[in-house]
Amino acid sequence: MKTIIINASPRKNHNTAQLLKEAQKGAESVGAETEYIDLFDYTFTGCRSCLACKRRDGERNKCFWKDDLSPIVSRILEADAVIIGSPIYFGQPTASFRALWERLAFPVLSYDGAPISYYTGRLNVGFIWTMNATGDYYENGIKPALAVTESTAPMFFHGDVRSYAALDTLQVNDYSKYAMGAFDETAKKAHHEKQFPLDRQECFRMGAELSKWKRYWYSGGSPVKRVSGKFLLTMSGRNLRWSGRFRLQACFLKGGVQIPEKISVRSVKFRAVSCPVCICVFPGLQKKIIFWSG
Ligand SMILES: Cc1cc2nc3c(=O)[nH]c(=O)nc-3n(C[C@H](O)[C@H](O)[C@H](O)COP(=O)(O)O)c2cc1C
Repeated sequence: MKTIIINASPRKNHNTAQLLKEAQKGAESVGAETEYIDLFDYTFTGCRSCLACKRRDGERNKCFWKDDLSPIVSRILEADAVIIGSPIYFGQPTASFRALWERLAFPVLSYDGAPISYYTGRLNVGFIWTMNATGDYYENGIKPALAVTESTAPMFFHGDVRSYAALDTLQVNDYSKYAMGAFDETAKKAHHEKQFPLDRQECFRMGAELSKWKRYWYSGGSPVKRVSGKFLLTMSGRNLRWSGRFRLQACFLKGGVQIPEKISVRSVKFRAVSCPVCICVFPGLQKKIIFWSG
């Protein structure tokens, strides 16, 4: 599993960044490889509407605009999970978040009709939002706006989606130095002390949940055939849509009981893409295959 963590806050060590770092730890706790990106280190714009990604003969799922964001978009589309954090500015995620989302989602959006996405993989998406807002202001003013973006993630990227909102954050450490009379520093600090550790825990959990291998069974007629010293595994069904990385474990089935085959148990990473046949090299004759997938 590869999980990319993206900080769309200009501040590298404040609320959003701290929660994202927890998500990163969560991802690593389940064995994921991670990459942490501070978006504000890069120079880029939102979608330029060049429409190169919509040319009839054009490559799909690729943003052709060349700036610092292009390689980041490519890496995200190759990863298994992305967790993006943003503060709320005037009721919305930051402009940088927005730019990233446009550049990530537009190249996979199909204007050809159903299916709505050209992307055939499975990318888990996490959102971490931080803001001053408290209960009602969040529920009625901000949450509905965020839901619009959140709801597009499964349509475009087919993976699991999680979101977490950290409310009433501590915007500065010492309110006495700023003209911020609208905020009650004592109440803010008390809330922060109690709530932020819980926010951290939730974000850790999100990182772990989105970065876990999932277990799927494959059993079919005779899925594994020996071909020139290799075993040929023919996959069918929904697995075909996925281009995520898989690990394989082979098991014998004896009287309905699954017995892991010690010699043949082996981790293999391969890409299914939309090819119906994958060649995996592992010894022994497998009767049942378990897939773990992002
Ligand atoms: C330009 C700007 C606009 C903001 N607008 C809002 C807002 O509309 N609603 C809100 O709840 N908080 C707003 N905030 C507060 C931030 O969302 C909040 O402090 C956030 O946790 C900051 O994240 P950071 O610590 O990672 O930078 C705003 C902050 C800034 C700098």
